[in-house]
Amino acid sequence: MAKDEIEEYYAETANREVRPDLVLATRLIKSSKTAIDCGCGAGSDIAYLRKEGFIVYAFDIEEESIKICRERFRGDEDVFLSRDSFSSFDYPKSSLVVADSSLFFCPETEFEKVWSKICRSLSKGGIFCGSFLGPKDTMASPNYNRDAYWPNILVFEEEDLRSRLKEFEVIKFTEHNVSGETPQGFSHQWHIYSVVAIKI
Ligand SMILES: C[S@@+](CC[C@H](N)C(=O)[O-])C[C@H]1O[C@@H](n2cnc3c(N)ncnc32)[C@H](O)[C@@H]1O
Repeated sequence: MAKDEIEEYYAETANREVRPDLVLATRLIKSSKTAIDCGCGAGSDIAYLRKEGFIVYAFDIEEESIKICRERFRGDEDVFLSRDSFSSFDYPKSSLVVADSSLFFCPETEFEKVWSKICRSLSKGGIFCGSFLGPKDTMASPNYNRDAYWPNILVFEEEDLRSRLKEFEVIKFTEHNVSGETPQGFSHQWHIYSVVAIKI
């Protein structure tokens, strides 16, 4: 993704509304409040998690994301930031793993390893709250220009995704299949599965 587009994307999402799934996830936490935000972008979820009293470990592959978050959370000793990919990050033990619109971009060849790291990081009773790209999304099309955003696109069929959740009790599984326009005025089909699940 081009630098201007990254900056524009982060500026647009820095203070976006907290998604209801994340509110639900934080309400479900019974144990100590330690969260990991995978692909944290401009840090809107970090800000919410800090408001809710979580210690937050957050990472992103983009230098710009980590720069923005370092500035945003300067002086906050309970926010630990690192520039990492899904597979290079050293996942600490946690009670909540958040991956909002980020695993869409995990290289397919790395997903097994990444998913097992996420599962191992979560303590029993811990929550996974994240979203996955479905096959009807515009980004899943072979004609989609992968240079426009992050180049690796990871797509799940619902059945396959559900089969990855065997170590979890699924609390909420939502399919979003919505047509609309991007902020740049291009038509887009959003096909996203969002998941809130408890590690058993
Ligand atoms: C659509 S944005 C979502 C950002 C944030 N989670 C949010 O909801 O506002 C996707 C984020 O995933 C990050 N990302 C893409 N590929 C990644 C990878 N391989 N490892 C870690 N982060 C990645 C991007 O840099 C970007 O910040």
